[in-house]
Amino acid sequence: MQTVHRTPACTPVLDTAELSTDFLVVPLFEQDDLGDVPWLRQRSPELDRARARGEVAGKLYEVFLTALDGGRPVRAALIGAGSRESFTSERLRRVATTGGLTARRGRFTRLTFLHRAVGAVDAATAAQVIAEGLTLANFEGASFKTKADGCTWLESVDVGLPSTGDEIGGALRKGTVLGECSNMARELANEPGNHLTPRQFAERAAAIAAQAGLGVEILDERRIESLNMGLLLGVARGSQEPPRLVVLTYEPAEPAPGVTLGLVGKGITFDTGGISIKPAENMDKMKDDMSGGAAVIGAMIALARLKAPVACIGIVPATENMPGGRAMKPGDILTSAEGKTVEVLNTDAEGRLILGDALWYARQMGVTHLIDVATLTGACVVALGKTTSGLFGRPAAWVEDVRRASERAGDRSWPMPIFDDYKELLKSEIADFTNTGGRAGGAISAALFIKEFVGDLPWVHIDIAGTAWAEEAKPYQPKGATGVGVRTLAELALDVDAWSNL
Ligand code: BES
Ligand code: MN
Ligand code: ZN
Repeated sequence: MQTVHRTPACTPVLDTAELSTDFLVVPLFEQDDLGDVPWLRQRSPELDRARARGEVAGKLYEVFLTALDGGRPVRAALIGAGSRESFTSERLRRVATTGGLTARRGRFTRLTFLHRAVGAVDAATAAQVIAEGLTLANFEGASFKTKADGCTWLESVDVGLPSTGDEIGGALRKGTVLGECSNMARELANEPGNHLTPRQFAERAAAIAAQAGLGVEILDERRIESLNMGLLLGVARGSQEPPRLVVLTYEPAEPAPGVTLGLVGKGITFDTGGISIKPAENMDKMKDDMSGGAAVIGAMIALARLKAPVACIGIVPATENMPGGRAMKPGDILTSAEGKTVEVLNTDAEGRLILGDALWYARQMGVTHLIDVATLTGACVVALGKTTSGLFGRPAAWVEDVRRASERAGDRSWPMPIFDDYKELLKSEIADFTNTGGRAGGAISAALFIKEFVGDLPWVHIDIAGTAWAEEAKPYQPKGATGVGVRTLAELALDVDAWSNL
């Protein structure tokens, strides 16, 4: 398989009249007079004509390519940025990705990106999201074609900003790291189940985490058995592949006192549904059922590289969910490591089972704040669609902290209720609770199941079932794994001062 992502070198530039790259990316707003870039209209004779015809109007993410006279750059891409009033850092990130993908399609390896909405997005934030967006554009889904058509990578990027200096340099680096770690998560999530088995997943995580200076421990099936993780083992029983529990630790030189953030990600490397088997149609998509785990791994690497000022522990329970002669069966009773009993009514509700034991383990390791990320329920996709992740948890202030981090990150999310009334959905006659609450409120009953394993800690569950995988390409997002969650978790860890006294 070929390399699937690269990191472009980002450099800030002040004087955008002296450009040295061949390709220029310029956001174009609706009703834009381009007054700040008069040379652009002079160097592109067709631009005014195209605008007069209405061919280019600045509509969000539309692309207009034009040749430029008079030396470098030789070509410009005007990327629609919508109205100036509604412009945000999230749009800027997407405009950058659209521009980066356009440049790569044209086989340009170096580009200059002009930041033009100085009033709407400050220079440091702009530097960060532009670097993020362009790094996200430097990604290709895994290819196993034997006759691969070579693709072009962005090697270096100049970012035109109203100021340069240390703060800008740091912001560019932050954006580059966040983009790169999102790409790592996308790479893992795109990989097919026969390549990325639980053992492989753990090994790959261990390798990239060790490189980033994280502590790494991989618990094998014997360790998992000695910890009595009956929920994780129950799911793994149907598979020939043994389960793993990946434990990554990060300790900064001067951590925020009294706080350890626990990040737990669902790592089902393939979800057939088990004995409650899924229909054949679209089952192939279930290779991405470890996207939550990949997000945790990507985020741990990001916050180590960015030296986040908070201790963090990342935990990924990894297993396949398969039907097999020894597979768990509907009606089986499993006992969790914590001692709680579960009646398995549907073996396809496996994510919450493995998260239960992993969240307990995080608590044993002394975390003070919990977040879990999981492609958990089809019901969440029904509720919120494919662009917004579901947030569940308590207290409300912690949920809001996570929501705000997700907004900064460009990973949209929205809170859902977890009222006690829903608890009766999980009532079992013979065990502490069942693992399924039926169709109505399915995302909520799943969250309430998970809540049984978080003790009294502040906890947020992020359901990324709808957002982890893009089924159709957008100008700013190719088909496939999105890397959702990586930047949310990293932004949250970096902002520990805002929530540490929760
Ligand atoms: N991995 C799936 C959830 C999922 C569905 C993710 C669609 C992405 C797209 C999860 O393990 C699952 O199968 N959930 C069941 C739960 C049900 C049996 C209670 C579901 O949502 O149907
Ligand atoms: Mn399932
Ligand atoms: Zn699943």
